[in-house]
This record gives sequence, structure tokens and C-alpha cells, in this order.
Amino acid sequence: MLQEKVAALLNDQVNKEFYSAYLYLEFSNYFEARGLDGFANWYKIQAQEERDHAMLFYQYLHNNNAKVTLEAIAKPEKKLDSDMDVLKAGLEHEMYVTGLINDIYAAAHEAKDFRTMQFLDWFVKEQGEEEVNANDMISKMELFGSDPKGLYMLNSELGSRTYNAPSLVL
Ligand code: FEO
Repeated sequence: MLQEKVAALLNDQVNKEFYSAYLYLEFSNYFEARGLDGFANWYKIQAQEERDHAMLFYQYLHNNNAKVTLEAIAKPEKKLDSDMDVLKAGLEHEMYVTGLINDIYAAAHEAKDFRTMQFLDWFVKEQGEEEVNANDMISKMELFGSDPKGLYMLNSELGSRTYNAPSLVL
């Protein structure tokens, strides 16, 4: 049995991960409209990964006989006025999600819920990778984004990203 507080935070995270997917789809939408199909591809795949994250929380709750409540997914409200705005919003969002994962981890630790802590270990590592990726995108954009050829190359690089299913299987 999951402790009530831990179960509630895990349930919230289902919604938060679906919101992340929606936010990244909005980023993809922004870049599609800009004609930068590589950036659009990168964020579309990111949206897919976030749906995977949501389903991992969903399945973990079910595997532990906890009830799942699906709530409304909020509209992405970030104001996106430039390419860099999008990239920075991505990093800011991942740092926020890292905080959410840490909060669930802390609650699981307090409840001596070692199973949930082990489940969350994968997400702790994943958040580290997501922050590195978001930071890298910003660095590359700062270096090359103001040059049309540089932006073209960066767009091509991001266009080669392919989807990989999560390594965590429940
Ligand atoms: Fe599900 Fe980008 O963290």
C-alpha cells in the first residue's frame, strides 16, 4: 500500500508529465510555424517521451493498487517570442520538474517507501539528462543561432533525433 501523500504526489505527476508533453508539443508547434523542422522534430520526440513518463507513473500506481485520477491538462501559457525564449522555457520547465521529482522522493523517503524511491531513481537520472540536453541546446543556439548557416546546421542536427522508448519498464 502506498502512503496517501506519496500516492497523491505520484498521481499529480501523471498530470504534470502529460502537461510537459503538451508544452513540448507547443514548442514543436512554434518551430513548425517558423519552418525549422529539425527543432520541431526534436520537441515532438520530447513530447512523446513525456507521454511515456506519464504512463510510467500511471502504471506504477496501478501496479501498487492505487487509484488513478485523470485531471484536466492545462493550456501551455508560456509566451514564446523568439527561438531562445522556447529553449530557455524548456530548461526552466525541466528544472521545475526536477523539483517535483525531488519532492516525491522526499515524501517517499519520509514514509520509508523504498519501492517508490527505487522507482524514482530512474527519473532522478532522467532529469539530470533532460537538464543537460536543455542547457546544450541553449549553448549551441548562443554560439551558432545568430548565423543563418549555423542555424541551418543546428536544425539539421536536431532533425536527426529519433524516438527511443524509455529504458524503464514496469
Ligand atoms: Fe518528464 Fe522532461 O521530464
